[in-house]
Amino acid sequence: MRLLVTGGAGFIGSSFARLALGAGHAVTVLDALTYCGNLANLDAARDHAGYRFVKGDIGDKALWPALLSDAALGAPFEALVNFAAESHVDRSILDATPFVLTNVAGTQVILDAVRAYGERNAGRAPRFLQVSTDEVYGSADDGKPFTESTPLKPNSPYAASKAGADMLVAAYHHTFGLDTVITRCSNNYGPHQFPEKLIPLFTTNLFEGKLVPVYGDGKQVRDWIHCDDHSRGVLAALERGASGAVYNLGGSNPAENLAITKLLLKLTGRDESFIAHVKDRPGHDRKYLIDHGKATRELGWSPRVKFEDGLAETVRWYREHEGWWRAIKSGEYLKYYERQYGDRGGSGT
Ligand code: NAD
Ligand code: TYD
Repeated sequence: MRLLVTGGAGFIGSSFARLALGAGHAVTVLDALTYCGNLANLDAARDHAGYRFVKGDIGDKALWPALLSDAALGAPFEALVNFAAESHVDRSILDATPFVLTNVAGTQVILDAVRAYGERNAGRAPRFLQVSTDEVYGSADDGKPFTESTPLKPNSPYAASKAGADMLVAAYHHTFGLDTVITRCSNNYGPHQFPEKLIPLFTTNLFEGKLVPVYGDGKQVRDWIHCDDHSRGVLAALERGASGAVYNLGGSNPAENLAITKLLLKLTGRDESFIAHVKDRPGHDRKYLIDHGKATRELGWSPRVKFEDGLAETVRWYREHEGWWRAIKSGEYLKYYERQYGDRGGSGT
């Protein structure tokens, strides 16, 4: 297939681009290179003949007609996979505007561009796959895993913006007959994740001899999945998913934040004196649990990476790629956290 991958310079989008190129697909990445987009994530893609990078914002209406009918490709895209997003919950609490602009309005701009392309080309529009999140379902406080028919009840501005995008995708399928698929995945970990999210932040803080800020009591539950398993699920949904369908993807590996923290302490050779309990995230979802039975039954997909192995390999990757994360842990990034949580640096004992 000829694929257009938006947000492909980010953490999961770059994992997907590597996977798709390795499977023989041609991949054009469109990415605005925001604070978390990083061309170094695509180093392994550069040698593939089918790889191309275009810098641009998904919300820029003007770029779409030329991009979708680009003669340089020789043939049109068969599918468009939208990873582009503002993705960090804490940032959405500080300022929701970029989340609404990229996640909601940006997605709608792509949907309109795909629709217009179809109208110009006798209905031959690419399949559109929206990469969504389990956070659209809210918190599983009743202990019941989310299924695809669990009502959407997003709690953070990030989750609300992703739910808004999902609703638009469903509406464009219903109203205009666009060939769409939505995947909703649980929390990802793996190499290349921006060090503001729990696992890379804690890993790199521990390398640096800094404390790790556990929000509240640390008993919140997330279901962790390796980014490459997520990417395999997205590819399966793209290749075999039913038009208009939603597929949940998850790691079958729910764990409390404190348990993850203790595993990271062990893997980095630090003790529990490096744990700092800090004030809780406002509106913090207590629990995400996801049932990916439909993806397993209908797509033949299930996660492959054993969590203990994947986490150890991830910590090793951060150890071996110190230049990558040190370049990212910039002044701007630290200032953001200071504003929200006060002094969180210092060294462990
Ligand atoms: P990320 O923040 O690492 O990457 C996002 C990418 O999108 C970056 O390369 C960024 O430059 C690009 N981008 C942002 N705004 C853009 C715009 N307006 N136009 C073009 N490009 C833009 O995020 P990630 O963790 O890789 O997440 C990718 C997708 O997967 C997101 O849609 C996210 O909601 C979803 N998701 C993430 C997780 C997770 O645990 N990280 C879980 C489920 C779903
Ligand atoms: P995060 O990686 O931000 O993902 P999400 O909020 O999308 O689930 O956070 C994962 C969990 O870790 C979440 O319960 C919040 C918690 N957390 C901390 O306790 N401390 C931190 O510094 C961060 C970034 C997250």
